[in-house]
Amino acid sequence: MAVKIIGTGSALPKKVVSNEEMAGLVETSDQWIRERTGIGSRHISTGETVVSLAVEACEKALAHGDRKASEVQLILVATCTPEKGIPCAACQVQGLLGAAEAVAFDLNAACAGFLFALHTAHAYIEAGIYDNALVVGSEVLSKVVDWTDRGTCVLFGDGAGAVLLERSGQPGILGFVQHSDGTKGGVLQCDGRKLENPFVSLPVGNPFLSMDGREVFAFALRQVPACIWEALSQAKLSPEDVDLYVLHQANRRIIEGIAGRMNLEAARFPMNLERTGNMSSASIPVLLDELVREGRLQEGMTLVLSGFGAGLTYGACVLKWQR
Ligand code: COA
Repeated sequence: MAVKIIGTGSALPKKVVSNEEMAGLVETSDQWIRERTGIGSRHISTGETVVSLAVEACEKALAHGDRKASEVQLILVATCTPEKGIPCAACQVQGLLGAAEAVAFDLNAACAGFLFALHTAHAYIEAGIYDNALVVGSEVLSKVVDWTDRGTCVLFGDGAGAVLLERSGQPGILGFVQHSDGTKGGVLQCDGRKLENPFVSLPVGNPFLSMDGREVFAFALRQVPACIWEALSQAKLSPEDVDLYVLHQANRRIIEGIAGRMNLEAARFPMNLERTGNMSSASIPVLLDELVREGRLQEGMTLVLSGFGAGLTYGACVLKWQR
């Protein structure tokens, strides 16, 4: 499957909120948050939007890939926290970037959103429909977090990451899988607008994020290793063949648990959640961009990307790093 990532970029809000500051808002402590999650601080919007963060991340990915916005053919924005219902965030990004030739639309698969968008863009390129794509994960979760609920508000942060994908002569994506289980949607949810029109007015649901944390934890430990194995077997590789596992940054204990279940050392699982918290669809592309900029990705490395979250949705992708 001949697609490669030729550029990456990311953007985080300026304001950093420490665990100590969280302890001023809800009954919690730096020690509790670090021990249970690995998170030390997170970036929180004081004006940055899903669109402004996505535009900044895309501009960096374009500069990194040495391409102009006018050359982009497809823009996919994965988000579950758009500012507007209409138009979609991707069209706003397209307009602000000046990517006049690009087709643009959003995709919502919550924390697996970036991965699903990557697979979608890959399928378009593979089918010969487009030659390149900007794939973005962008979230301002602080809008939907219940800032009085200590069980959730300490976990999340805001940010955006983008990759520029292009058709390549060599195999890039070696295998991918995606799964959904709508029967478990209730474990992590946030209601939308209520139905109100001249004929009916239904009660308002909960417009804030609610979660059964233990259930989500158990789901991730059960399904993520299984879907990584599935993607690896498609690629005819074993877990030891993979240089780095770039996983959704929900919780350090989840990531270490997955490493343990796969009999792999945690060092193969880079993390940035200590500084970012869980940024839903933005977690994977932001971490990928940081790895690129830190010079930790070398040509020919094998990577696994894996995301999981509300829906429930989960998936994995095996790729050969080439630029
Ligand atoms: N500070 C202090 N205490 C807290 C707290 C906080 N921020 N949040 C919850 N607690 C309390 C609970 O109220 C509970 O108290 P109780 O025993 O008196 O009822 C206690 O800590 C233990 O709660 P529990 O839910 O068992 O903790 P846990 O070890 O399971 O950790 C999570 C909670 C949320 C950190 C953990 O379940 C988790 O990370 N789950 C996955 C969530 C996730 O990643 N979601 C997004 C997926 S994309």
